Amino acid sequence: MLKVEHVHQYYGGSHILRDVSFEVPEGTLTVLMGRNGVGKTTMVKALMGIVSVRQGNISFNGKLINKLPSYERVASGIAYVPQGREIFPRLTVEENLFIGAASHQAPKKIPEYIYDLFPILKDMSSRNGGDLSGGQQQQLAIGRALMSQPKMIILDEPTEGIQPNIIQQIGKTLVQLVKEQGMTILLIEQYLDFIREVADKYVVMSRGEIVASGDGENIDRDGIAHLVSV
Ligand SMILES: Nc1ncnc2c1ncn2[C@@H]1O[C@H](COP(=O)(O)OP(=O)(O)OP(=O)(O)O)[C@@H](O)[C@H]1O
Ligand SMILES: [Mg+2]
Repeated sequence: MLKVEHVHQYYGGSHILRDVSFEVPEGTLTVLMGRNGVGKTTMVKALMGIVSVRQGNISFNGKLINKLPSYERVASGIAYVPQGREIFPRLTVEENLFIGAASHQAPKKIPEYIYDLFPILKDMSSRNGGDLSGGQQQQLAIGRALMSQPKMIILDEPTEGIQPNIIQQIGKTLVQLVKEQGMTILLIEQYLDFIREVADKYVVMSRGEIVASGDGENIDRDGIAHLVSV
């Protein structure tokens, strides 16, 4: 569904992404993992059109998207949950959700299935985003991404700074979205226990290069644990 081919990206003179190629097959949860600073977020920003790539191709559903502005990528069915969540603290939970609906096909009210996935968002719909705990804000960020009715969601380190019980809950929800709703997910992650629970496929990045890939069930057999920090 998403195909990245020979992508190179630079910040000034620093060569950050080096000939990166990988795929996210439709209907899978694919994990992109790697230590701090290897270029994971840069890759995701390139996918979303937040940074531009110098060389290489990115295609979604067989269509090249590298030159499209971010909002057109969202309209074509890709949603993004940024690292650090980026919730608006002074807007209510409901207002934060509507921010995700900024495209033309967006719903006029919050779809009930989002509240079914994350009941806490309904309970707290009129509270300020800033009043929520880290885990609740992460749930809000995922709910906001779902508001654009995406075919694919990209999440950048959703477990960062979150309590283990909420991590588990988020993991279950992501798997449910893939298995029951046919969603495709690209998850950026370093937390190996979480990756083992949810990954259909994995790709490992090290210093801006893809150095390993395989099926989630083989993560331990493939001996790639030393390539992530946790
Ligand atoms: N805006 C920027 N300008 C210059 N260099 C940057 C910029 N953003 C990131 N970098 C550098 O690019 C490299 C890759 O950073 P990136 O944020 O993509 O890593 P990451 O794998 O997401 O790390 P983390 O796991 O800590 O989130 C790092 O060396 C970082 O310092
Ligand atoms: Mg990052």
